[in-house]
Amino acid sequence: MKQLHKQSSANHRRDEEIPAAPTSPYSPKTLKHPRSLPRSINYLFKEQRLLFILVGILIGSTFFILQPTLSHLGPSESNSAIPRHVTTGVTTTHDQIASYSKSNFGPGKTGRIPVGIGNRRLRIVVTGGAGFVGSHLVDKLIARGNDVIVIDNFFTGRKDNVVHHFGNPRFELIRHDVVEPILLEVDQIYHLACPASPVHYKFNPVKTIKTNVMGTLNMLGLAKRIGARFLLTSTSEVYGDPLEHPQKETYWGNVNPIGERSCYDEGKRTAETLAMDYHRGADVEVRIARIFNTYGPRMCLDDGRVVSNFVAQAIRKQPLTVYGDGKQTRSFQYVSDLVNGLVALMEGEHVGPFNLGNPGEFTMLELAEVVKETIDPAATIDFRPNTADDPHKRKPDISKAKELLNWEPKISLREGLPLMVSDFQNRILNEDEGKGLK
Ligand SMILES: NC(=O)c1ccc[n+]([C@@H]2O[C@H](COP(=O)([O-])OP(=O)(O)OC[C@H]3O[C@@H](n4cnc5c(N)ncnc54)[C@H](O)[C@@H]3O)[C@@H](O)[C@H]2O)c1
Repeated sequence: MKQLHKQSSANHRRDEEIPAAPTSPYSPKTLKHPRSLPRSINYLFKEQRLLFILVGILIGSTFFILQPTLSHLGPSESNSAIPRHVTTGVTTTHDQIASYSKSNFGPGKTGRIPVGIGNRRLRIVVTGGAGFVGSHLVDKLIARGNDVIVIDNFFTGRKDNVVHHFGNPRFELIRHDVVEPILLEVDQIYHLACPASPVHYKFNPVKTIKTNVMGTLNMLGLAKRIGARFLLTSTSEVYGDPLEHPQKETYWGNVNPIGERSCYDEGKRTAETLAMDYHRGADVEVRIARIFNTYGPRMCLDDGRVVSNFVAQAIRKQPLTVYGDGKQTRSFQYVSDLVNGLVALMEGEHVGPFNLGNPGEFTMLELAEVVKETIDPAATIDFRPNTADDPHKRKPDISKAKELLNWEPKISLREGLPLMVSDFQNRILNEDEGKGLK
């Protein structure tokens, strides 16, 4: 009888819980009977359970209220890999790691830095990093202990220029065209990707202007998205055939918008405009360098630029080609001086634009003489008609960079040329161009 009663009460409970209609496996859970509520309240009041719950809530809330203050006073303050910001003219790598890491955490910029990210190395992307200037910049950044990602489509750059970093875990190389967007997490972007010599940028002018406009837009968009600082390598060509001499950054230039060189000159001018618009309109930290003629090891052998032309011709025992009467002037900067200037600009507090060049002015004939002295005094000169839109005078006024970046070039043409010549001699003798890793 007792058993029968038990069974029937069990059945009764089951009847209460199981719904009348058969349920599909996806039907919502049945609600418990409302009569279970007073039983739960009863349960809570028994054995001081409610008191324990309230004490638990109190302890939890106190911890969460005090936690930000505690973490601020914790060991990270005294023993941190992220030093506090120091307001010197040039911020150090570590200061930047702290500020960049913070800037990557939302618009409030006050979020705490997750462990493992806060003390990581500065990560830098160099577009065009397999080219002449880019590869020297990469060398400097790697030597400083930064993580470097090179983006290059190898139009004029070569793997040979960065092959010595292969196998280094702090170095990455991505074959990519900047005309297409890319998503990376970095702290700084040095944007160099663009063919720089007339033979290269005139080879496909539409591609050149696309690289300057769409490539720069893509990299600025990336900088905005991830809160990275962005440096544009513009050019002295933005001054065109200048009517002011030497050229200051305040000079707006004398540029032909429809000439053969316009894809480069106007492309760079547009790139500067884009950089400033992202700076003013989207708060992107930009830096603009206007680079004047630069020379050094790893320049393309036959890129038509005057220094590489003369040096390669003198080594090959060919006459040095001088366009026009050879009285047009240029200034020549050694590549390590430029790289120091780019880094000082990136790490300084000023947007620019800044002229980065060597103010020592040489006529083409004087340059030819220095090349002859350095390589082959018997070399001859072959005069040819001048090319269209070739500027007559080019000399930077670098007082702004001297004052605000504390930068000026150190290496004279007579010191720098022999350093380039030995690299060119090796490459010409080994005929490595075209047979390298490109
Ligand atoms: N060297 C100079 O005298 C000088 C003067 C003024 C300005 N600059 C500027 O400095 C930068 C570097 O010049 P450089 O002399 O090292 O030239 P470079 O031709 O040696 O290097 C340019 C690099 O950009 C890469 N590149 C070109 N188009 C690309 C694209 N669409 N996507 C990805 N990569 C691309 C090339 O493959 C190359 O590695 C350029 O922006 C140039 O305009 C140089």
